[in-house]
Amino acid sequence: MSQIILTGDRPTGRLHVGHYVGSLRRRVELQNSGEYDKIFIMIADAQALTDNADNPEKVRQNIIEVALDYLSCGLDPEKSIMFIQSQVPELTELSFYYMNLVTVSRLQRNPTVKSEIQMRNFEASIPVGFFTYPISQASDITAFKATTVPVGDDQLPMIEQCREIVHKFNSVYGETLVMPKALIPENESCSRLPGIDGKAKMSKSLGNCIYLSDSEEEVQKKIMSMFTDPDHLKVSDPGKIEGNTVFIYLDAFCRDEHFAKYLPDYQNLDELKAHYQRGGLGDVKVKRFLNAVMQEELAPIRSRRKELEKDIPAVYEILRKGSAEAERTAAQTLSEVKRAMKINYFDDMELIREQAKRYSEG
Ligand code: TRP
Repeated sequence: MSQIILTGDRPTGRLHVGHYVGSLRRRVELQNSGEYDKIFIMIADAQALTDNADNPEKVRQNIIEVALDYLSCGLDPEKSIMFIQSQVPELTELSFYYMNLVTVSRLQRNPTVKSEIQMRNFEASIPVGFFTYPISQASDITAFKATTVPVGDDQLPMIEQCREIVHKFNSVYGETLVMPKALIPENESCSRLPGIDGKAKMSKSLGNCIYLSDSEEEVQKKIMSMFTDPDHLKVSDPGKIEGNTVFIYLDAFCRDEHFAKYLPDYQNLDELKAHYQRGGLGDVKVKRFLNAVMQEELAPIRSRRKELEKDIPAVYEILRKGSAEAERTAAQTLSEVKRAMKINYFDDMELIREQAKRYSEG
């Protein structure tokens, strides 16, 4: 069976290093591994509108930001199909049919939907479109016959819900849809990179993100202001690693060779952590090391972005072509779905003959 990837992001802001270690970096590796027959990367503007209905301008502005972030991280339009969700109307049509296979109470139990409703204070005023976005996400995945969905672990309930829809569809209408699986980062720190203030989630509204497009100075400033262990007051004090943002970022970013290059007194992160826990290692030294490591990874991304920014129409052209190709694929799946559901009246010659016969006999 062919191996197909689909994943995507909501265009509600520039992408940050949480997106990068949680998913983007992996996508580029998967893209370059040659193990996948097709890779679809979707800018989920329609999903972004489910909770930004009154702010379409924000969504519109961020499409180019996300596309620039994708390309500057190394997603390559020769290898990966990048497209805009709303430009593939087949996705909406699939959702309409999948809605019949999902109960309201099942959606209410979806942990991601539950916590997002809380976070956004929707409670009694949840837009129907927002409430049903797990169904729309199942359309995104199945339309491309995706086998593999690389995401952060906050998206696991979405993939689970999609798998249930696939199972239900196939058992009601016959084997049609491909069962996908999630691919989450092996490294736990990559799954949940906190904000620079130590808060669980990086979010634009909290102002605690490091963006891929931040300048070298901005990144450095943010790292030097990072939350660490609030009880680690003197250098000689023993420090805590757990919940210490700087060490969580090091878990996500640093490799042994970074020590030889930037901090040769230590062989690896375990040694650095042990020293910190023992006492005698100051935050500033660890932060400077993290800064060196992160700048090394972010510098090429930043400079590719600068290049891409010189030709914005070319970036839109990549999305236009990608959207056209994505639509061809989705249309094929939709026609298979309609055949399975017996709503393909006009290509079903047998149906027309049968009905004609019934009437001529009657
Ligand atoms: N919900 C995802 C996010 O917020 C974006 C998304 C939309 C997605 N459709 C998808 C991710 C399908 C994976 C597969 O980041």
